[in-house]
Amino acid sequence: MRKPIIAGNWKLNNTITESRELSTQLVTGLKNTEDREIIIAPIYTALSAVAEVIKDSPVQLAAQNCYPETKGAFTGEISPEFLQDAGCQYVILGHSERRQLMGETDHFINQKLFKVLETRLKPILCIGETLQERENGQMLEVLSAQIKGGLANLTAAEMATVVIAYEPVWAIGTGKTASADQAEEAHAFIRRLLQDLFNPQVADQTRILYGGSVKPNNVDELMTQADIDGALVGGASLNAEDFIRIVQFEPLS
Ligand code: 13P
Repeated sequence: MRKPIIAGNWKLNNTITESRELSTQLVTGLKNTEDREIIIAPIYTALSAVAEVIKDSPVQLAAQNCYPETKGAFTGEISPEFLQDAGCQYVILGHSERRQLMGETDHFINQKLFKVLETRLKPILCIGETLQERENGQMLEVLSAQIKGGLANLTAAEMATVVIAYEPVWAIGTGKTASADQAEEAHAFIRRLLQDLFNPQVADQTRILYGGSVKPNNVDELMTQADIDGALVGGASLNAEDFIRIVQFEPLS
C-alpha cells in the first residue's frame, strides 16, 4: 500500500511571521491524519521557524530546491545537509518553474538527487510537459526523458525514498486542472516506465503525486484514480482552510 502524500509548495510566498501563522493554523486544524503524509515547503528563511511550529505534529517540512554540494564556495546556494539541519525531511527537485526560469536540466537535477540521497532527506522529483509539447503529441516522450534523465544511474534500492510529482506545466497556476483521466493516463505511464527501468516492486511502491491547480473541489476525484498517490499543491496551499480540506480528501466510491 502506498501512503498518500499531500504536499503544499508555498513557492516564493509568506514572510517568516506569515509562515508561522499558516503552519500554526495547519497544526491546529489537522486531526486524524495518520493514514496520509502532510508536507509543507516554505521559503528557505522560514524553514527553521516553521520547523519549530510543526515539531510535535504530523506535518513534515520540505525545501523547494537544493544544490548538489555539501558546503564550500557556492555563493547563494544551499545544500541538502544544511536543509536537514534546518529541520527538513523532504526536498522538491526539478520543479517546472526551476526548469523554465533557471534553465535546470535533467542532468543537473540528477546530480542534486544523488546528493540528496547521501542525507536522510527524501527527494520529490517533479516532471511534466508544456502545453506545446502536449499539443505536438510529445507528452510521453518528454515524461520519459525527464524520468530517465532525473533518475539516471539510480539503483532500485535507491528508489525506496524517491517520490515523483507529475505536474503538467499548462495546469500550474492556471486554474486548468488536468482531468482525472488525463492525470491517470500520465501516472500509469510513469509507473510502467518505473517497472521497465527498475522492477515491478519499485513501480508498485513509488508514490506519484499530481500537481497543477489541485483544489478542494477536484482533489477527491483525482485521488480516486488508481495511480495517483497524492497531490503537490501550489496556490491552494497558501490558504489554511483549503489546504486542510485537500489533506482531508476522500476518494469517491
Ligand atoms: P498550483 O496548485 O498553484 O497550480 O501549483 C502547482 C505547483 O506548481 C505545485 O508545485
